Amino acid sequence: MASKVLAVDDNMVNLKVVRATLVRAGFDVFTASSGDEALAMVKEMIPDIILLDITMPDMDGYEVCRRLRARPETSQVPVMMLTAHDTLEEKVKGFEAGADDYLTKPFQPAELEARIRVHLRRRQTITIAKAEEKARMISVFSLRGGVGVTSLATNIACGLAQTWQKPVAFVDLSLTMGQSALMLNLPLRHTWSDLANIPITEIDVDLLRDIMLQHSSGVSVLAAPRHVEDGEMITPEIVSRVIEVLKTHYAYIVFDLPHDFSETSLAALDISDDVVVVMAPDFASVRATSELIEVFNRLGYHLGKSSIVMNWIFERRGLAKKDIEGVLKRKIPWVIPFASELVVQAINLGAPFILEDKPNPLGIAVEDMVFDLSKQEDQDSKPESPSLFWRRITERRSRK
Ligand SMILES: Nc1ncnc2c1ncn2[C@@H]1O[C@H](COP(=O)(O)OP(=O)(O)OP(=O)(O)O)[C@@H](O)[C@H]1O
Ligand SMILES: [Mg+2]
Repeated sequence: MASKVLAVDDNMVNLKVVRATLVRAGFDVFTASSGDEALAMVKEMIPDIILLDITMPDMDGYEVCRRLRARPETSQVPVMMLTAHDTLEEKVKGFEAGADDYLTKPFQPAELEARIRVHLRRRQTITIAKAEEKARMISVFSLRGGVGVTSLATNIACGLAQTWQKPVAFVDLSLTMGQSALMLNLPLRHTWSDLANIPITEIDVDLLRDIMLQHSSGVSVLAAPRHVEDGEMITPEIVSRVIEVLKTHYAYIVFDLPHDFSETSLAALDISDDVVVVMAPDFASVRATSELIEVFNRLGYHLGKSSIVMNWIFERRGLAKKDIEGVLKRKIPWVIPFASELVVQAINLGAPFILEDKPNPLGIAVEDMVFDLSKQEDQDSKPESPSLFWRRITERRSRK
């Protein structure tokens, strides 16, 4: 697959020259004539390298570069500044904004091409080195429908991306009824269906990056098919291959599972590090959870692999937590309060409650879950530039 170059310049002539040069060199070239356009484009596709003009009306190249760096999905993409100004000050400013390289116009086509190749090679080495870091995989699951699996999975995925500023994949395995994209208000440009007819060995990270929908929180979503019947074309083999590929390129993978032990669900459950079992405080849910624990035992899952979250999907007269713990013989580490207005509004608007500016009880409860579910090495070390989420969570923990 050809490498994707995004060139950003307000001058049409410059764009044409760059395009002609790079198309000849075999690259897939995308162009944007303003910073805004470029930032919108990288929500749909992640280029392998970005060429940025500095002087542009509205938003200059420095600002575009800073914003690209601030987004987890583009924070690592090489950025090369292309500019007519050749002063030391300009260069320093560019590097400070997070640029990787600098080329003065007019440039020699051969030099542009050579420098791009250097960056792409370097990035490839970094990606391979990083591949050592394996994703932590978290399944959100219940045998009973309507207890908040999708809502919690969505908010956990967004919370992980925001807390650690690392790439997070959100994989919808409710293949016949999935709603993850809806919860994030993402148009269904691509879904699992796009993988149905592709030979398994050709499923690689570039293809998946093209198919996953990019959310502004830093979460990449592999959405469920539009039509119920398409879900059946997704085999457990395809699911396993996708997980295999994703796990070396994302820091976290969150699965939204259907309420059954289908083969595709099992493919995710088997390799998950954590299974978050969602239940409501009522009898039907206790029964479903007890059945689920039974099956997990038979599957040989160790006790620490699954933990229960009690979600108050109704307002009152629920069973007491300690009674449920007694019946299930398991501790319940997390409780999510009832807040129907918040949840319904979040679903209707496609805006996860955890991303609300104003702190809310649901967001706080899920943020704490997010921390508990994070990799030990993330929990143990202070990030270089701590996120707002990290600071909030850490502050709460220190008060406890
Ligand atoms: N903490 C909560 N407070 C109030 N209502 C909630 C809460 N959590 C979830 N709900 C409600 O429960 C319903 C189901 O939520 P959601 O779709 O997330 O669950 P699900 O288990 O994925 O369901 P499905 O069976 O459709 O896959 C939603 O209508 C939501 O409004
Ligand atoms: Mg659901």
